[in-house]
Amino acid sequence: MTDDEQTPVTVIGLGDMGRALAGAFLDAGHPTTVWNRTASRAEALAARGATVAATPAEAAAASPLTVVCLLDHGTAREVLGPAAAALRGRTLVDLTNGTPRQARENAEWAAEHGADYVDGGIMAVPPMIGRPEALVLYSGSPAAFAAHERTLGALGTAMHLGADPGRAALYDLALLSAMYGMFGGFFHALALTGSEKIPAAEFTPLAISWLNAMMTSLPAMARAVDSGEHAATGSNLGMQAAAYVNLLDASREQGVATGPVEPMQALLHRGVAAGHGGDGLSRLVELLRVTS
Ligand SMILES: NC(=O)c1ccc[n+]([C@@H]2O[C@H](COP(=O)([O-])OP(=O)(O)OC[C@H]3O[C@@H](n4cnc5c(N)ncnc54)[C@H](OP(=O)(O)O)[C@@H]3O)[C@@H](O)[C@H]2O)c1
Repeated sequence: MTDDEQTPVTVIGLGDMGRALAGAFLDAGHPTTVWNRTASRAEALAARGATVAATPAEAAAASPLTVVCLLDHGTAREVLGPAAAALRGRTLVDLTNGTPRQARENAEWAAEHGADYVDGGIMAVPPMIGRPEALVLYSGSPAAFAAHERTLGALGTAMHLGADPGRAALYDLALLSAMYGMFGGFFHALALTGSEKIPAAEFTPLAISWLNAMMTSLPAMARAVDSGEHAATGSNLGMQAAAYVNLLDASREQGVATGPVEPMQALLHRGVAAGHGGDGLSRLVELLRVTS
């Protein structure tokens, strides 16, 4: 079968995300076989035409491409263990969230059992799946990705990041780090304004426009990180360390926890103590590398 035809696909794991993935394959016309520990979660998909397998091995044997989306790495290994023989000569794509090391372990395990392996990271929530704005990052076997790129395109925009199976997980977790940093700061900001009964909905448009303005500085920071040249352009690190103290003091005075914002204060102080007070903020990335 070529990738231009409707490649049969197996989806193992039918949580919120797995059901969305299987639904997108069905919508795109792929014969879809599913398996889930709790069988009742397959019922709505079966009503839409999915075949429900009795075991993970039976599910894997049904298709040249098996997509796995389970709670975590340990669960995926546990579920796939008995399906190893059925995966021989087929492609396994694991979209379960995990670390680069876990992805590389998966690739070794798949190779031991004669399967091609592609790891993936889903940068979307279930309602986005099947639409172009759902970005799914992949890395691992370039040949297996090329063979199934069109099929995987049913899930959203498919981006292959290279042959190293750990690369997609690295990007995924780095993007989540940026996202949670933003959410942590936003939640702290809402607690701060909320301490004076300002409705979150009143403050939020300002937060959005401020964050968008700050976003424009990211490419210059990236260039500074890559070049190691961290010249300040009007807002040096020492000034920011001094002003940041007010953020902590105001939090305490307003009865707001400082937990989400303390790590940046510690980092700023380390930057100043290391003699980088005159540099730009991007200098702090180096300090994170030192402590890792
Ligand atoms: N939901 C999102 O917004 C989102 C976004 C990006 C990435 N992801 C990633 O996608 C993966 C799945 O997320 P989800 O939202 O679908 O999670 P979920 O709704 O909690 O579903 C978890 C899945 O794992 C299965 N499972 C858990 N423990 C198991 C065990 N011991 N044995 C067999 N199966 C087990 C569940 O089976 P049962 O139905 O039998 O419990 C279910 O299929 C995670 O790695 C998550 O980080 C999720």
